[in-house]
Amino acid sequence: MLFGADYYPEHWPEERWEVDAGLMQKAGFNIVRLAEFAWVKMEPEPGRFDFEWLTKALRVLHSHGIQAVIGTPTATPPAWLCTSKPAIMRVDEQRRQVTFGNRQQSCINQPEYREHSKIIVDALAKAVGNDEAVYGWQIDNEFGPLCYCELCQRKFQEWLKAKYHSLEALEAAWGTIFWSQTYTDWLQIPLPWATTGTPNPSLALDFRRFFADCYAEYQQMQIDIIRKHSPKPITHNFMGLWPEVLNYQQLADQLDFVSWDNYPFGNTDPATVAASHDTMRGYKKQNFWVMEQMSGPGGWGEMAPTPKPGRIREWTFQAVGRGADAISYFRWRVCRYGTEQYWHGILNHDGTTNRRYAEIKSIREELARIEPYLEGSTVKAELAFINDYDSRFAFQYQKSNHAFSYVGLLISLYRGLYDRNVAVDILSRDWDLSNYKLVVAPSHFVLTEERARILRNYVEAGGHLVMTYRSAVKDVTGLIFNEPLPGLLQEVFGAVVAEYHSPQPDEENAIGGIEGATHGIISEAKVWLDVMDLTTAEALARYEAGFAPGSVAITRNKFGAGTAYYIGTHPSQEFCSALMEQIAIQSGIRFSIDTPAGVEASVRTGSNGELLFLVNHNDYPCSVRLPYPYEGLVGGSVVDGLLELDDYGVAVLRRV
Ligand code: GAL
Repeated sequence: MLFGADYYPEHWPEERWEVDAGLMQKAGFNIVRLAEFAWVKMEPEPGRFDFEWLTKALRVLHSHGIQAVIGTPTATPPAWLCTSKPAIMRVDEQRRQVTFGNRQQSCINQPEYREHSKIIVDALAKAVGNDEAVYGWQIDNEFGPLCYCELCQRKFQEWLKAKYHSLEALEAAWGTIFWSQTYTDWLQIPLPWATTGTPNPSLALDFRRFFADCYAEYQQMQIDIIRKHSPKPITHNFMGLWPEVLNYQQLADQLDFVSWDNYPFGNTDPATVAASHDTMRGYKKQNFWVMEQMSGPGGWGEMAPTPKPGRIREWTFQAVGRGADAISYFRWRVCRYGTEQYWHGILNHDGTTNRRYAEIKSIREELARIEPYLEGSTVKAELAFINDYDSRFAFQYQKSNHAFSYVGLLISLYRGLYDRNVAVDILSRDWDLSNYKLVVAPSHFVLTEERARILRNYVEAGGHLVMTYRSAVKDVTGLIFNEPLPGLLQEVFGAVVAEYHSPQPDEENAIGGIEGATHGIISEAKVWLDVMDLTTAEALARYEAGFAPGSVAITRNKFGAGTAYYIGTHPSQEFCSALMEQIAIQSGIRFSIDTPAGVEASVRTGSNGELLFLVNHNDYPCSVRLPYPYEGLVGGSVVDGLLELDDYGVAVLRRV
């Protein structure tokens, strides 16, 4: 297990490094992430390189048994570059050029920025690529900002030309006849600038795909350079399930392992953190790292709450229980200056240790106890969610309803299963679905023929599929299907959307479960109302009041050897949880352990057996009845098969 912190030796005098490394070693650290913002220290002026400080820092760390992940510093091009080549600065959606003074300010497509990125990455990889203290690489830092400069426009036009070949094909794919947007020259095609107003949705969808390609190209450029000099594994630090700017799957495909930055703050819902972990594990169907784990109060202007005693431990064990194989805390010591002067981590401004350091040190000791069993183990799920980036791209320009949230819906369906401690893989690509008993695809707005075929085959072969409102609405280029919705999947669902309604904030709509599907709960129906006409499906729930009382809202259809459910609206959490629990039971999903509300259970299985992780997210103690005999490895105390957890308490148990 790798355990450590994000460390910025360039912020501190060299004499301090030995003290830091000593304290790290005492806390059981064996990894740090270094240097991802230190461009100006590595290249103080164009073409003059200095890696001596870095190799010195690596030596100090290594003499204390610590290796480093080296971040390429391209998120912070220095002032000498940004001011001498102003064209490299990004342009925002409003067509304003970003000015120097923060980070991530360059356009990743600008040739001069790319050239300078290549030079610094090459020099860095050459300097430390084979150093025994280097564990691996992180490319850049939290990719994300889009650019709307004229060069990006030209590149987008070229990208479109390569994709559609002719303007006639583009016209058909986008429907450019609408509002006289037919182009007679590729050069006329705009970007979805804010100044244009709501753009053609197909253009906007392609722009997002284009920019995802640009980041993949930029990342691959760096990977290729590193690979020339260094055989070590490469990652990038993602930001969890929430961001919808890029297609993380596409970036993950290029990487050796996935890592992400986990900032649960004081009160982030544990289910959404769990869903981020499950998404990270899903990209490569492999365990992942937490490259930045929040460990102190933080903020740029105002500060988030200080993690109470036990919370760093709670977040750490939640991550490990869901498949993290490495934890790196952000950050080792809070900086005395700069934009992140308030972003605390482990040590205080004055470099002294504190109770957070003590907590992290004891977490390491606890992790050491389970390490032999963690080796090669992972989470095994019978249930998958689909996270579709094309749909998420499209929704950003067309939410359909003011209250719509893709991740919000996903979490509403996930939560009931999370509360019942069902293991879930969140998949963002077409992995083989045949190993899953149940697949849930929330608002799969854009549906390609390929994905439709996969889902159809999955159900036909005996799988259980859940889809919701705003699914299978658009084809691959963003045109609405020329057939009743859900386009391409009506037969699978045995139902069509007869009409739909986008409810307004002051409206009241209700839905009631029938046939025991949701224990007779009556709930509000929010966000969207699909009114279903049945062909072969049966009704599972009907609208009770509001827009279409008596009509069908939720359906179930036998198709081939499997079953497909369609949820036409967004019911209350209580209703969603009851419904998803029923569907899971009908799909043959096993519920392994019951826990009180707010206590999360997850299981890692490997050749050394099965480890049960219990994490109490509550600020009060809870007890859990254990279903089998276990050996306690970490935390909790067991009396007569009842495990007691303190507030924010954790326990790790080995099944015997
Ligand atoms: C992360 C970022 C870090 C640091 C941290 C706290 O998103 O990767 O560099 O900025 O947030 O703000």
